[in-house]
Amino acid sequence: MATTAPKTSDGLAIEDSWGDFVAGRYREGKSEAEFRVYDAAAQPGVAEFYRLNHQFQTLEFVLAKEKEYFALQKGKKSIWEAAEYLNTLVDDSDPDTDLTQIEHLMQTSEAIRADGHPRWMILTGFVHDLGKVLCLYGEPQWAVVGDTFPVGCAYSEKIVFPEYFAANPDSAKPELQTKYGIYESNCGLHNLHLSWGHDAYMGHVARNYLPEEALYMLRYHSFYAWHQQGAYEHLMSEYDKQMFPWVKKFNPYDLYSKGAAKPNVKELKPYYDDLIAEFFPAQIDW
Ligand SMILES: [Fe+2]
Ligand SMILES: [Fe+2]
Repeated sequence: MATTAPKTSDGLAIEDSWGDFVAGRYREGKSEAEFRVYDAAAQPGVAEFYRLNHQFQTLEFVLAKEKEYFALQKGKKSIWEAAEYLNTLVDDSDPDTDLTQIEHLMQTSEAIRADGHPRWMILTGFVHDLGKVLCLYGEPQWAVVGDTFPVGCAYSEKIVFPEYFAANPDSAKPELQTKYGIYESNCGLHNLHLSWGHDAYMGHVARNYLPEEALYMLRYHSFYAWHQQGAYEHLMSEYDKQMFPWVKKFNPYDLYSKGAAKPNVKELKPYYDDLIAEFFPAQIDW
């Protein structure tokens, strides 16, 4: 299992070791005792990634990134063009995987398809990580991948490496460290500002084109403290509770197995062209 240090440039090395890390924590059928220990010594790359992530993801930072990227000023692209653009991101430091980004997306969507799920969910699998183009816009990895969590209220102890929040300037602002912080009881996840990353960005890009269930999967698939650990229930609305099972349903497909067969992108492309055209216009704003 590779644990490479987080790259400072464009690569996604941390995403692969993070994928292993998360899979180790949450893989179905594992007993509590078998969960990987969150040990900085055993997982130095992952620990360093979260040290940066927890230090720099402040409320102010998240609000600024939402303002910047929710304006969708990065140009028009088709879904396939975005996938090909993401594919230019080559991870040359992880000897464990030789999958391209498109192959990873198709591995997820093909697993969903093989289980007979609806077409919108297959498409959701294919697009779920396209928000990682944030790396190509120059965002550091700690602002693109990794577990997400709400900012503007108390940090849950269920977030990985909670000790690293001590270095976050928001920790010194008592008004941001109460149970509800800037939020209200059961205000609904949509009103929360989650730490910035590819989930929120892609959820916003797709907001007019995919069903709500899909948008929940996109927006919250990295919000592990919530969907696997039951944290932040006091901020959930009734609607969130109805949507929750869909986020759970998506999770096992996100914890892809690296051993699975490589999808044949060329052969599968016509199927995905049709599927994309069923839900998305030729080009959308990014
Ligand atoms: Fe993701
Ligand atoms: Fe993924």
